[in-house]
Amino acid sequence: MMTSKRPDPPLGRARACTRLPSTGREEFLRLCPACHRTYPAGTINCELDGSRLHRVCVAPRCPQTGLALGGYELVARVAPGVCSEVWEGVRTTDGLPVILKLLRFLTGDMDAVRDLCSRFFREAAAVSAIGHPNIVRLLDHGLDPATGQAYLVFERLTGRTLVEAMRAWRMPRDLAAGLAVARQITAGMEQVHRMGVIHRDLKPSNIFLEDGNEGPRVKILDFGLAKIRNTKHLATLTRDMTYGTPAYLAPEQARGQEPDEAADLYALGVLLFELATGRLPFTGPPMSLIQAHLQKAPPDPCQLRSGLPPELGRLILKCLQKDKSRRYSDMGALGEALDVILVLLAATPPPATTPHPG
Ligand SMILES: Nc1ncnc2c1ncn2[C@@H]1O[C@H](COP(=O)(O)OP(=O)(O)O)[C@@H](O)[C@H]1O
Ligand SMILES: [Mg+2]
Repeated sequence: MMTSKRPDPPLGRARACTRLPSTGREEFLRLCPACHRTYPAGTINCELDGSRLHRVCVAPRCPQTGLALGGYELVARVAPGVCSEVWEGVRTTDGLPVILKLLRFLTGDMDAVRDLCSRFFREAAAVSAIGHPNIVRLLDHGLDPATGQAYLVFERLTGRTLVEAMRAWRMPRDLAAGLAVARQITAGMEQVHRMGVIHRDLKPSNIFLEDGNEGPRVKILDFGLAKIRNTKHLATLTRDMTYGTPAYLAPEQARGQEPDEAADLYALGVLLFELATGRLPFTGPPMSLIQAHLQKAPPDPCQLRSGLPPELGRLILKCLQKDKSRRYSDMGALGEALDVILVLLAATPPPATTPHPG
């Protein structure tokens, strides 16, 4: 994949960018820049809105350090994802550090590739429309005309993901810090939901904590599974429930139903459970996890950690209700409930919270 043996060329505007030689195996599809509907290669115009279609390359090629993409240059790969590859990069005009998300190429099932491509651009539309201090900022998105590579460009954040932070924190000793993070997530998600977008994949690796003078600032990442309401292409989105992460999957998602705001509330409930107790409500292989979300009552967080405020235990269990109508009505209501607990924690000395034996 990457040319790790060769030393990277020096960074900077003067560096000559490389382009990958053609593999001769490229496959292309066509994408409507207006509605993100995809078409087989050879189609010229969108049949819905008449837009001239753009060419998207779907053949397997290996992005590597130094590759020029649109007005950006790849610097180092951060993460290989299911649907995309995340790279650190720079904007070639001014050296601005950015994060580039590249459509990960799949071969074989062209229908799946076309779904993936539409979802990728839907992510761009969803994120750029949101605009909130707790949501990662999308700077640009496009298709590199030379290679047909689809990409999103984000501000590059400095800090760490919630996964890394939770490893470093001694939970639940840092309960107030954890709840403050959850509070910021509710603020960001309130806006996300207001815009008619469902995240569908809230979990610690999609929460970034940006370093800040007044403590970490939450930035919600990865709207790859976002669903925009009233989309004309709902059918393509409801099929991909399996892209979700079972540890945070709401029962209705596990049943294959179309998730709504309440599914994000459930996922945040799982995350709050983790923040409060240091463990997940359910563990095990994917199928047993799915069964647990569907049928098993979650353990009482207060039984797992002595010293947790009972109000917090009740709040978490309310988020984890199997029946979504029994959860909080929305992120705003959950945010207010968290505020009450944060005030409570500030007013009382930190409890000597310890895990119960076993
Ligand atoms: N804007 C960003 N700034 C810094 N790091 C980022 C940024 N976006 C993503 N990352 C890092 O890349 C990882 C994967 O990004 P994500 O958007 O969740 O993609 P995926 O899960 O689809 O691979 C994140 O967990 C984070 O570590
Ligand atoms: Mg992710």
